[in-house]
Amino acid sequence: MGNVDAPIAVFDSGLGGVSVLREMIKVMPYEDMYYFGDSINAPYGTKSLEQVRELTISHVERFMEMGAKGVVVACNTATSAAVRKLRQMYPTLPLVGIEPAVKPAVERFPTGNILVMATPMTIREEKLHRLIERFGGDANVIPLACPGLMDFVEAGNIDSPEIYGFLRDILDPYKGQLDGVVLGCTHYPFVRRAIEDILGEQVAIFDGGYGTSKEIKRRLNEAGLLRKDTQRKGEIIFENSNNSQQKRDLFWKLLNY
Ligand code: DGL
Repeated sequence: MGNVDAPIAVFDSGLGGVSVLREMIKVMPYEDMYYFGDSINAPYGTKSLEQVRELTISHVERFMEMGAKGVVVACNTATSAAVRKLRQMYPTLPLVGIEPAVKPAVERFPTGNILVMATPMTIREEKLHRLIERFGGDANVIPLACPGLMDFVEAGNIDSPEIYGFLRDILDPYKGQLDGVVLGCTHYPFVRRAIEDILGEQVAIFDGGYGTSKEIKRRLNEAGLLRKDTQRKGEIIFENSNNSQQKRDLFWKLLNY
């Protein structure tokens, strides 16, 4: 049984999960959160399924040893590789893995053209295809692998001419044809402005961060693990397998972005 006073662990291959963490802080400002980024092993999206599964499981095992009361896998790639196994390992743990926001996008545009941007692994894995089968309905859901995009964010490069050039190269073919874009990697919300500038503001952008935050809150509540003292200010602890000042500075910059 978890301890109400323990932190919630949030995990990503790097700093992308900060886009989920910031939503979690809005939804549960009174909770302590422990954020772990595995930047030394990033990117995950171009690794093998087995590698990502092993890495993810070993991080979650450590969070359990630390006594975390809940876990958010704030990485779509790690979710597709490991969440099913983690649920088997920890059946009573409030554990939520982010997945691309296909459902809300299709609800908004039931017969629209919806682009799903994600890492090569997320695009390849069965989980996304099942999600599209289940919720895609009559919409035209177009998966687009974006290898290399997360590296810009990891380097703190989110509004340079290079990132605009990179995004134009991959998005120009879809210009004028889309109703919505699903940001299926937690790094991508940090380049949302560039995506909007390129595709135009009439294209709606969907990101799973808020839905994931509400879901972990619901799960913690159900388990009786939400703090009662909602007036307190939660503590945010940051750790990264690449323990550099650059990552620490970028973490706080992105959290306040
Ligand atoms: N942030 C991760 C995701 O949501 C992936 C980035 C990576 O390739 O490591 O999929």
